[in-house]
Amino acid sequence: MAQVPVRPVRGGLPAFLVLAGSGIAGGVLLASCSAPANGTATPREPEVIYDTTCGYCHGHNVGPIIRGRQLPAETIEFFVRNGSGAMPAFKPTEISPQELSALSEWISTSKADSTEHGQ
Ligand code: HEC
Repeated sequence: MAQVPVRPVRGGLPAFLVLAGSGIAGGVLLASCSAPANGTATPREPEVIYDTTCGYCHGHNVGPIIRGRQLPAETIEFFVRNGSGAMPAFKPTEISPQELSALSEWISTSKADSTEHGQ
C-alpha cells in the first residue's frame, strides 16, 4: 500500500494579533501599519510633503510663494508633474497620484504663511 505523506499543519495565533491586543502598543502598531495590501506605501500628509519637498524652494526665495494664492489644484499638479525652469518635475514614484491630489488641494486652500518669503 502506498504511503500518503501528511503535511504538518501550522497552528497558533499570528504574533501580530497578540500584539494588537496589548493596549497602547497595539494602537501604535495599527496606526503606523496601514499600508494597503498592494505594497504601496502609506500616503504622506500634504504638510509633510510640502515641508520636505516644496518648502525649501517655495517660501525661501528660490520659487514664488504658492500658499495663500488659491492657485487651482490642476495648475499645481501640472507644475509638479512637468516642472518649469528651475523647478524639477516629480515622478509618481516620488509623489504618488494620491499624495499629489491631496497636496494640490492643500496648497490651493492653504493660508499664506507670514514666515515664508519669496518673489
Ligand atoms: C528646486 C526648487 C523647487 C522645488 C523643490 C519645487 N519648486 Fe515649484 N517652482 C520653482 C520655481 C523656480 C518656480 C518658477 C518656475 C518658472 O517661473 O518657470 C516654480 C513654480 C511652481 C508653481 C507655479 C507658481 C506660479 O506662480 O506660477 C507651482 C504651483 C509650484 N512650483 C509647485 C511646487 C510644488 C507643489 C512643489 C513640491 C512638490 C514644488 N513646486 C517644488 C522651484 C521649485
